[in-house]
Amino acid sequence: MSGIFTARVPSNIALIKYWGKRPGAMQWPANDSLSMTLNTLNTCTSVSRSLEQDHSLWMNNQVFRRHDRRFDKTFHQLDRLAQGFGFTAPLAIKTRNSFPMGAGIASSASGLGALTIAALAAWTEAQSFHDLLAAGFSQHKLADLSRQGSGSACRSLFGGFVLWQSGDQADQQHYESLYSADYWPLRDTVVLFSSEEKATGSTEAHELAWSSPLFGPRLSGIPERMQAVQSALASRKMDELGPWLEAEALEMHAVIMTASQPVYYLSPAALDFIQALRMARLSGELRAWFTIDAGPNIHLIHEDADHERLKAWLAKRLKNEQVLHDTIGQGPRLDFQSEQMA
Ligand code: DP6
Repeated sequence: MSGIFTARVPSNIALIKYWGKRPGAMQWPANDSLSMTLNTLNTCTSVSRSLEQDHSLWMNNQVFRRHDRRFDKTFHQLDRLAQGFGFTAPLAIKTRNSFPMGAGIASSASGLGALTIAALAAWTEAQSFHDLLAAGFSQHKLADLSRQGSGSACRSLFGGFVLWQSGDQADQQHYESLYSADYWPLRDTVVLFSSEEKATGSTEAHELAWSSPLFGPRLSGIPERMQAVQSALASRKMDELGPWLEAEALEMHAVIMTASQPVYYLSPAALDFIQALRMARLSGELRAWFTIDAGPNIHLIHEDADHERLKAWLAKRLKNEQVLHDTIGQGPRLDFQSEQMA
């Protein structure tokens, strides 16, 4: 049955980062990682069969075609899926992010996840995850395929707190939701220090990480940190979890700042902010801990009860920076609309 297949996939924020991938084409990470799936920061992608010769990608009322470098990952992913499973039908794809364009929020996790689910649903005419499973695409399989488009996308396929284990072989990676979103309803308040496209994307940074003298020691320390973070999740104690988040984010940035071609994602304003946050926390003014991805924007992880105090502090402290408010979320959705209704 023809119609429109819409996948809504949230972004995720890593508590333990995926940083560095092992050589080869399988997107095999150097270490295990753990993230929190978000809720309203997401990508919504609608796919239908197209009468054109090739796929077309619509974003903000503009159409993008193959060979537009900005959408390499998208078209590569479509080709990978089509070749892997013998799909030939060209697709019309409409996609939008719930977060502002160029806000520096990682859109590749939600974007590649949504594209993978919606494209496979359109090709197999699956109207639900149940139908996708019947067509041979389990949640684990969808995560595996999304990962090939962008590593961190695999974690967005699950809700709550998600573990991605690298496994002993590239094709034996494992994903699992350790706790659902309602187990510990944490929040992520994101302060945007830059809306510019970053000069060095995470794919390039994953390669550079190996050249840092700090990378080997980082990998050796991951199992202990992973255990500590999981034990903080088990006890649901923010004072226990928070310091690990900050150590992890700073270590990731230390690795890339000491690579053979150093990358400085953190701006002076972001560093000032971190310092002020720590002081405010020490003085008992707020209870929030930061983590940072490959960019200058600061994610503040905290409990619901501490949200109002954090908001008040941010209102006092920030000048023009935009703030996004999100919570932990349940994971992806898939909806179908028949052609007549569309
Ligand atoms: C810093 O998933 O964007 O956000 O696999 O090359 O697409 P590719 O990289 P990507 O890397 C994300 C890195 C990170 C940390 C994380 O999300 O774990």
